[in-house]
Amino acid sequence: MAMNLRYLLLFSLCLGLLDVLIRVRPDVLIFVGASSVPHACSPPHASFKFCDSSLPVKDRVNDLVSMLTLEEKVMQLVNKAAGIPRLGIPPYEWWGEALHGVSNGGPSTTFGGSVPGATSFPQVILSAASFNVSLWKAIGQVVSTEARAMYNEGLSGLTFWSPNINIYRDPRWGRGQETPGEDPLLSSEYAINFVRGLQDVDGSSSNRIKVAACCKHYTAYDLENWQGVDRFHFDAKVTQQDLGDTYQPPFKNCIVNGNAACVMCSYNRVNGVPSCVDKNLLTGTVREQWGLNGYVVSDCDSVEVLYDDVHYTQSPLDAVADSILAGLNINCGNFLASYTAKAVAQGKLSEKEVDESLSNAYTVLMRLGYFDGNPLSQEHFGMLSASDVCTVEHRKLALDASRQGIVLLKNSPTHGLPLSHTTTKTLAVIGPNADASTTMIGNYAGIPCKYTTPLEGLASYGAKVVYEPGCTDVACTSSKMIDAAVKTAVLADAVVLIMGLDQSQEREGFDRSSLSLPGHQIDLIMQVASSSRGRNKPISLVIMSGGPVDVGFAVNLPEISSILWVGYPGEAGGQAIAEIIFGDHHPGGRLPMSWYPESYTEIPMTDMHMRPDPSRGYPGRTYRFYNKGDAIYEFGHGLSFTTFFHRKLSAPFEIALHEKQNINSLQTSNHGEEFLLEKVDCASSSFNLRTVVKNKGNRKGDHVVMAFWHASKEHISNGAPKKQLMAFRRILGLDPEQETEVLFNLNVCEHLSYVGNNGRKLLGIGVQKITIGDVEHHVHVHHRRSLNL
Ligand SMILES: *[C@@H]1O[C@H](CO)[C@@H](O)[C@H](O)[C@H]1NC(C)=O
Repeated sequence: MAMNLRYLLLFSLCLGLLDVLIRVRPDVLIFVGASSVPHACSPPHASFKFCDSSLPVKDRVNDLVSMLTLEEKVMQLVNKAAGIPRLGIPPYEWWGEALHGVSNGGPSTTFGGSVPGATSFPQVILSAASFNVSLWKAIGQVVSTEARAMYNEGLSGLTFWSPNINIYRDPRWGRGQETPGEDPLLSSEYAINFVRGLQDVDGSSSNRIKVAACCKHYTAYDLENWQGVDRFHFDAKVTQQDLGDTYQPPFKNCIVNGNAACVMCSYNRVNGVPSCVDKNLLTGTVREQWGLNGYVVSDCDSVEVLYDDVHYTQSPLDAVADSILAGLNINCGNFLASYTAKAVAQGKLSEKEVDESLSNAYTVLMRLGYFDGNPLSQEHFGMLSASDVCTVEHRKLALDASRQGIVLLKNSPTHGLPLSHTTTKTLAVIGPNADASTTMIGNYAGIPCKYTTPLEGLASYGAKVVYEPGCTDVACTSSKMIDAAVKTAVLADAVVLIMGLDQSQEREGFDRSSLSLPGHQIDLIMQVASSSRGRNKPISLVIMSGGPVDVGFAVNLPEISSILWVGYPGEAGGQAIAEIIFGDHHPGGRLPMSWYPESYTEIPMTDMHMRPDPSRGYPGRTYRFYNKGDAIYEFGHGLSFTTFFHRKLSAPFEIALHEKQNINSLQTSNHGEEFLLEKVDCASSSFNLRTVVKNKGNRKGDHVVMAFWHASKEHISNGAPKKQLMAFRRILGLDPEQETEVLFNLNVCEHLSYVGNNGRKLLGIGVQKITIGDVEHHVHVHHRRSLNL
């Protein structure tokens, strides 16, 4: 987000003036707390029809829009909406961020005074690793409660541009950390649950919303800057096939099943057209097909970018007109305020189209209760205040989220984790992330309630902790401090190496060019490891990072007894790490993205194809398609301190597909037989999958059950994924010998389908494999023409 400084300055001056004008009115001083902030529909401006909360939202919006002049309207189409002083409507700042906690990354939110900080959850990629849908919803609920409390305190707005649900296509992407990973089903479930946590009032979807979420960045946005190609200029060449079953599903689910009140169009072009002026994408798909009840916002300055930087339109007027006509409603930036009136005057768009944009935006504010007067007097959230931020329960949830997400990648049965409380007298804690604080909260964070660093967490366990950073920072450009670290390690009973990345290595605007640990980090690890060769000393390698790193060097190194990936684990991350290392919590997280060797970086980051292309040696992307077979750890990998076994209980051996109409729409190609999904009666193609999970080890443990679909070879050669997550469920703490049954309700159309190269959904006919852990099941999908329609 690169705001134009000129406009920022201009606008803050205007806002300052309005503030003073409104502030001298005696009526707004009645309420304490939020009193310094004026509210729409407060006396003496409360008697307008649009202020009457008993009327339908639509009527109120129409009334409000009908009272405005064109000049007034265009000033509301930008993130710093000017407000309408004559109607008592104060300026509104649309831009807020709440990716994993209320953040001050957007101008609507300020920390200080009554709210010095807010609960800072793990960066999204780690929460995703929990595979726990109720956790994602619970996080959303806490974030929206804290946001409402801050709104009541005059410290925040009600519209937030989160979550980021772009598919994590390439491990180098600097913003992969913000996303739920590489799988469309996982990303969709994350989106639905987090958005509903943010938005739902009283736990249900309704017209009334708690705060407004925003699904971003629509669409096919997952590159910051690779070899001089930046996100502003990048033209993502995406096939209809990949759009259909990879790039679009998270957005569709975010809107259709999450009911998100907003979509943000991205900076990049999609097949030549900047997404913010793509009428097919914005109006055709988002508004008409998916039924968005809300507003479309641009990324910050992306309308300006598509004119100024990309020269996609001939004039700023065209950029503005084209984007509004395509379906854009609010512009982060100032282009729409500056040029829309002129564009209307020149006939490039009509005032009616401006009204439509504004109506979509105002509908969201109405649903938020923004036009219901002072928030402190409002029914649902008026009681929330500073004391509802950083509560004990909220901070516990932040801790629980990092516990649930942390992934055990490797563990030695003889001298691995957990460490013994009693025999670990001296613990060496080494590495540039050992004393991490801000690093733990990643990007799009706020100010946390309180940090517990890894060092603090580990020190609380009673062993004598000796700390050596080994490098001055994660870049680790010098090897000078390695000797001291090795000496410390030699004298300790156990060693914890806390290595990895931070925002200097991966961030917005900055992709990695290497998957290796930076600088001398590997030297440090190897020297510590070799210093204890043959001693069976526990040496844990902890990787704190958003994106995956090439840990291939450590996977088979016997001296490294365990490897943990801890993401950016949030404000309480240090405690969660320590609890897992000492066995007070048993890890159950699974990787939401695959980990590859450094050689992966030979693939051009700009190649958006998900499917492999053997003719040019292109291996494809993610566990669903990548065919080189050299992933270090694949999507879904994660160990436990105990051992789980799956047993198949029941699953169908054959599934008959019924056609909707009594015509034979079976297609036969050299790839085998397949059905166009649109011709199949999907309602009759559901089936149940039952499995039993048993803890056969001798420790308690959480477990994630994952069911995968494996298409047949013929269909894979026609573009079906070689492996595809169909369903998952996290199971809470099973004791040794305890077992539990898991039931998945599945549907062939939804879970055993893929998109063909013409962009239409296909169902493969024939024998297909389903796996849950080690359990394999074969199901024969065949067709039976229905006799009656
Ligand atoms: C999922 O997360 C919620 C919220 O933290 C927690 O109460 C629940 O026990 C978790 N479920 C599992 C199966 O771990």
